[in-house]
Amino acid sequence: MSNLNVDFSKCGIEKNEYLKHFEVVEDVHIELIEKSKDSNEFVGWLDLPSKYFNSTEYKKIKECANKIQSDSDILLVIGIGGSYLGARAVIEALHSSVYSADKSKTKIIYVGNNLSPEYVNDVVQALGGKDFSINVISKSGTTTEPAIAFRIFRELLENKYGLNEARERIYVTTDGEKGALKHLAKTEKYQTFVIPDNVGGRFSVLTPVGLLPIAASGIDIDEIMKGAIASEKKYSDKSLENNECYQYAVIRNLLYEDGKSIEMLETFEPKVHFFIEWWKQLFGESEGKDGKGLFPAGAEFTTDLHSLGQYIQEGQRLMFETMLNFEEPNSDVTIGMDEDDLDKLNYLAGKQLSYVNKKAMEGTIKAHVDGGVPNILINVKQLTAETIGELIYFFEKACAMSAELLEVNPFNQPGVEKYKTNMFELLEKPGYKK
Ligand code: PA5
Repeated sequence: MSNLNVDFSKCGIEKNEYLKHFEVVEDVHIELIEKSKDSNEFVGWLDLPSKYFNSTEYKKIKECANKIQSDSDILLVIGIGGSYLGARAVIEALHSSVYSADKSKTKIIYVGNNLSPEYVNDVVQALGGKDFSINVISKSGTTTEPAIAFRIFRELLENKYGLNEARERIYVTTDGEKGALKHLAKTEKYQTFVIPDNVGGRFSVLTPVGLLPIAASGIDIDEIMKGAIASEKKYSDKSLENNECYQYAVIRNLLYEDGKSIEMLETFEPKVHFFIEWWKQLFGESEGKDGKGLFPAGAEFTTDLHSLGQYIQEGQRLMFETMLNFEEPNSDVTIGMDEDDLDKLNYLAGKQLSYVNKKAMEGTIKAHVDGGVPNILINVKQLTAETIGELIYFFEKACAMSAELLEVNPFNQPGVEKYKTNMFELLEKPGYKK
């Protein structure tokens, strides 16, 4: 049984309006299935959950994760963009919000996603006296940020453990054939995981890219895959009328045509902060091209109701919101009674904090919809490994459909190269002339 349903009743677009687009949706659906059979197309994620689950490599992920848990206090996850955000999204959603209270044996620290020396020095300090391993992730194997981080932290690892033991503590996730990282891994005989050719970075969380760090952090990856497989099945229906994933894709395009230029992914559960970051990258890099695309932004409530809330309510009418509603909390807090009631909160005594949070959500949706901000509500039964798996697949598929409807290629990111070329010229990298 699925744990997801989407409420479009407040999106401002009537059902008969969006269902008119059923033919084009069916065409794209068929095209995606055809492309997924071609290893040169980036549609390998489409049936990946059911294909990859329990494969030989999947089992190797679990074995390596167990080893990391047994010998490492910290796993350094080195990667950027699609080679990092998915793992972080899942890990932060499912572990304690307070780092020091987290009971997992192996803590995950992310590096190689920026070029800040201060950040690197902070991580070096945090590693002091701790046992650690490294999982370096890069599909191209040539991305500068993770390559520099790997050079720095590999040296630290080798100095601490010696060459041989360091080698046993390095896990490389990269292309099966190409790239400097692949070459390095082969030369040094590091344990290596392959990113399938036909799965692009931002669609790769359910490959070793995401699964190894997630498993090493102590999360049951079988549950994630179970959820993803449920979504793979549920959203395989080509009929727009029956497929909420495709309805979401169509509606966000209709809102875009209607003048909305920003989609805010929002939540009242701060643990999904990095899930929103992952979603921003997924849609931003997939759709923002050829002068088109909704700008994907995010907000966490109630925190941001005290900052962005004012703009959303009364600023330029250029956004709609997609809200992630986790229906049942994993734990709750009861508000106590205070005889003096000096803080005037006794009207809430005996109520659960989740109840107050829910009322805040209902009040927010009403205010925003009344203020001209259409709302799409994604109801998720609970925040669990299984539902995170369901959500990942839901958004991947919605993103591919949405970008195809927008007539842009969801699977490339030509714009990302521009800053790199400029940076390489400025750094005088061989082969790059000013
Ligand atoms: O989604 C993408 O393809 C990108 O965000 C990449 O993941 C990111 O640029 C990192 O690339 P690589 O894995 O090649 O280091």
